[in-house]
Amino acid sequence: MKVSKICCIGAGYVGGPTCSVIAHKCPDIQVTVVDLSEQRVKEWNSDRLPIYEPGLAEIVVGSRGKNLHFSTDIASAIRGADIIFISVNTPTKTYGHGKNKAADLKFVEAAARNIAETVETGFKIVVEKSTVPVKAAESIATILKAIKRPGVTYQVLSNPEFLAEGSAISDLLSPDRILIGGEKSEDGARAMETLASVYGHWVDREKILTVSSWSSELSKLAANAFLAQRISSINSFSAICERTGADVNEVAKAVGTDSRIGPKFLQASIGFGGSCFQKDILNLVYICEELNLDEVAAYWKNVVDINDYQKQRFTKKIVDTLFNTIAGKKICILGFAFKKDTGDTRESAAIYVAKQLLDEGAKLSIYDPKVTREQIFMDLEHPFISGDDPARVAKLVTVDTDPYAAAEGSHALVVCTEWDEFRGYDYPRIYSSMEKPAFVFDGRRILDHDAMMKIGFHVETIGKKLYNGAPQNGYHTQPSESF
Ligand code: NAD
Ligand code: UGA
Repeated sequence: MKVSKICCIGAGYVGGPTCSVIAHKCPDIQVTVVDLSEQRVKEWNSDRLPIYEPGLAEIVVGSRGKNLHFSTDIASAIRGADIIFISVNTPTKTYGHGKNKAADLKFVEAAARNIAETVETGFKIVVEKSTVPVKAAESIATILKAIKRPGVTYQVLSNPEFLAEGSAISDLLSPDRILIGGEKSEDGARAMETLASVYGHWVDREKILTVSSWSSELSKLAANAFLAQRISSINSFSAICERTGADVNEVAKAVGTDSRIGPKFLQASIGFGGSCFQKDILNLVYICEELNLDEVAAYWKNVVDINDYQKQRFTKKIVDTLFNTIAGKKICILGFAFKKDTGDTRESAAIYVAKQLLDEGAKLSIYDPKVTREQIFMDLEHPFISGDDPARVAKLVTVDTDPYAAAEGSHALVVCTEWDEFRGYDYPRIYSSMEKPAFVFDGRRILDHDAMMKIGFHVETIGKKLYNGAPQNGYHTQPSESF
C-alpha cells in the first residue's frame, strides 16, 4: 500500500517532533498533526513553537505549509489519512481504580472513538504511538470494530516512541531501532510493512523490528524501566559514596567501562524527572499487581522509591547544611527543567526541591534559560503537582531572567538542571554578591568544585564528600563518617 497522507492525533512532545521529521524525510507524504488545543496548534503554526528542542525549528520551518500541517480540524485529517498515529498523553490516573499508578487511557480511547466515528470508507492503519499498557492495541481494535461504519476496515499497530527530550531530533533522525508491533496475520504483516516503508525513507531496514503488538507495548515499558533502574542504581551508590569518601563518578566510570554494562545512564543526579519514567514504571507496577506478580511489582516500585529518596536526601542536605534553618533566607535555584535542552518541567526534581524549601519558609529566586515564569508558578501552585497556596508562592518566589540577579543576596545556589551555561558563569562575581558563608549545592555535578571552593564557596554535591575548608598537610581532612 502506498502511503500518501498521514494524520497524527496529538501535537505534543512526541507528535510534533516525530511528524515533523517524517514530513522532512518523506516529501512525497502529506503529514497533518492535529490537536484539541487551539493554542498549541496556533503555536506550531507560529515562529514560537510550543516546545523547545534543538534543531526542531529548522525542520518545522523547512516543511510547514508544504507537506507538514498543524490543524484543529481533526475530522478532515482523519478522513484523508492512510495512516493515523495516536500520540496523545497517557498520564498516571488521579482517580478511581489504579489511582496514582495505572495509565489513564481516556485520551487514547477518545481518539479511537473519534477515528471510528469519523472514517466513512476504506482501509486505515491506526498506529498506537503513545506509551500504553500491554493489550491497549487490542482495546483500540475492539472500539474501532464496535463503532466502525460498514465497509471500513482497520489494522491497529503498536509503534512506541523512544526519543528523549533535548535530543529528540537526533534520536528521530538516527534511531537505535524502530519497533513495530502488529497482528500475526497476513493483513497484520501488510500493515506493518506499510508503516515500515514510511520509516524506510531514512532508517535502515535491519533497524526496523517487527514483533507482536503485546511484545511491542511491553518492550516500551521495559526500556523505560531499565533506563530508570540504572539511574536509581547509580543514585543508590551516590549515597554510599557520600558516607565513605568514594566518588560516584569514579565508580560509574569503572563500572561503565565493562562492555557488558556500558557507560550510558550512569550519571548520578538529584533524581530522574520527566513525564515518562515515573509514570511508566508505576504503570508497570500496576500491571504486575493486576497479574498477581507482587514480587515483580515490588522490584520495580523500588526504582521509584529510590528516586524519591534521592530528591528528599538532596533537599535535606540543603536544610541541614544551612544550619537547619532556612526560613526567610534567599536561595537561588539554577535550572527548573527536568533536564537540559528542554523547557519541559513535567516531574522535574526542581519542583520537589522548590516545594520542600518553600515548606521550610525559604525565599526562592529561580532561573532557567528555557522555562517561563508562568510555567514555574503553575508548577508550584498546581494542586496535583506541588499544591502550594498561590498567595504564598507569589510572596516567596521570584523568577529571574538573569542568573546574576537571581544569585544576588542569596545564601545558596542550588543546581537542579545540568544546563551547559551554568558551567561558564563568573563565579567570583556571584560569590561577592552573595550572603556569607556562601553555599553551593550541585545536584548535577557539573561545576568545578575545587575552583568553587578556592573562591570561598562551601560546596556540597551528589555522590562525593567534599572537604570544604583549608587542606591539612597537602591533604584534605577525612570525613568523620569514613571507615
Ligand atoms: P503531550 O501532553 O505533550 O501531548 C499530547 C497532546 O495530545 C496534547 O497536546 C493534547 O491536547 C492532545 N490530545 C489529547 N487528547 C486528544 C484528542 N482526543 N484529540 C486530539 N488531541 C488530543 O504528551 P507527549 O509528551 O507528547 O506524550 C504523548 C505520549 O507519548 C505519551 O503516551 C508518552 O508516554 C509517550 N512518550 C513521550 C515521550 C516524551 O519525550 N515526551 C517520549 C516517548 C513516548
Ligand atoms: C526517556 C527515555 O530516555 C526515552 O527513551 C523515552 O522515549 C522517554 O523517556 C519517554 O518514554 O518519555 P526523557 O525522559 O525525555 O527520555 O529524558 P532522559 O534523557 O531519559 O532523562 C530522564 C531523566 O533522567 C532526566 O531528569 C535526566 O536528568 C535523568 N538522568 C538521565 C539522570 O539523572 N542520569 C542519567 O544518567 C541519565
